[in-house]
Amino acid sequence: MRRPVRIAVTGAAGSIANNLLFKIASGEMMGKDQPVILQLIEVPQAMEALRGIAMELEDCAYPLLHTITLHDNVEDGFKGAHHALLIGSRPRGPGMERRDLLEINAEIFTRQGRALNDYANRDVKVLVVGNPANTNALIASRNAPDLSPCQFTALTRLDHNRAKGILANHTGACSKDVKNVIVWGNHSPTQYPDLHHANVLGRPALEQIDNNWYRESFIPTIQTRGGEIIKARGQSSAASAAQAIVDHMRDWVLGTDVGEVVSMAIVSDGSYGIAKGIIYSFPVRCDYGRYQIVQGLEISEYSRQRMTATEQELLDEKAMVEHLLPKEPEASHQELSTCIRSGVTLYADGTGPEANSKYLTTTRVM
Ligand code: LMR
Repeated sequence: MRRPVRIAVTGAAGSIANNLLFKIASGEMMGKDQPVILQLIEVPQAMEALRGIAMELEDCAYPLLHTITLHDNVEDGFKGAHHALLIGSRPRGPGMERRDLLEINAEIFTRQGRALNDYANRDVKVLVVGNPANTNALIASRNAPDLSPCQFTALTRLDHNRAKGILANHTGACSKDVKNVIVWGNHSPTQYPDLHHANVLGRPALEQIDNNWYRESFIPTIQTRGGEIIKARGQSSAASAAQAIVDHMRDWVLGTDVGEVVSMAIVSDGSYGIAKGIIYSFPVRCDYGRYQIVQGLEISEYSRQRMTATEQELLDEKAMVEHLLPKEPEASHQELSTCIRSGVTLYADGTGPEANSKYLTTTRVM
């Protein structure tokens, strides 16, 4: 058996986690040969519910589940974590404005960023799920000056999967036959699900669907799908969110399928003219535990407008929390080329190459 990896999960007694943890423990996320240690984190008042979930996990006797630890604080829960899934966040309550939500969550993600900085494995891969996910990821990453901004991502794979599923259904294909859909921007109703590069059964998707349907039905359906699910179920998506988390992390760690493009919200390096330093969803491919933005795609005037609208929303969200963002790590969020191109990683025991190594000009890793 390989050495287990440590996976920290916040909001671990919530309904997304209740779907997710059993998938992780069965090897769906990290692979069928990778043992896992689950470090489950909840607020103190949910610890009893969390104990119940831990009992159920234990009762499944998963061969790959090495250890479960329960924590009522992120400082303990993030210790040594190789992967951190930040699911818990404060949902919007009645009468709350988006600004209030951003501010309340800013506190939560500031603390989580600091705790990751101080306690997680130096190569930790972070996925933020709790909304507003992109800006929460930005807050966490800006509060983790010793980690690379490239280690912080937010979930748009749910939107990506929705786009695949709904396009497959509309064209009569299977979702496995749908390739290269892209979700640009924010995990919010301004996101842009782009089919200009997608194909279905090897042929361009836009040749197989009505343009009117694409613009007037498909795009708004994907953009508002989360809200529609809340209306229908009385609570937000859980099983599909859990599946998207599994897909996002599996691809990041184990690589995307050959020829496949997926969507991940990552810190912008200025690709496609998107403002540097915001957490924006791009088309990426992953290999060797790293992601790279797919470059050189042609962007139509229509797409440009949509991409700019969702970029603007993220800039507005950033402006709302700007006073809470530490200034010192800002430069590293603007200048990513060193950490992205260096390919430097740290050793599995958490140490890195010698400080004077000619290849290492920064302690930041991707
Ligand atoms: C979703 O897309 O399903 C969720 O992000 C919706 C929500 O607000 O919880």
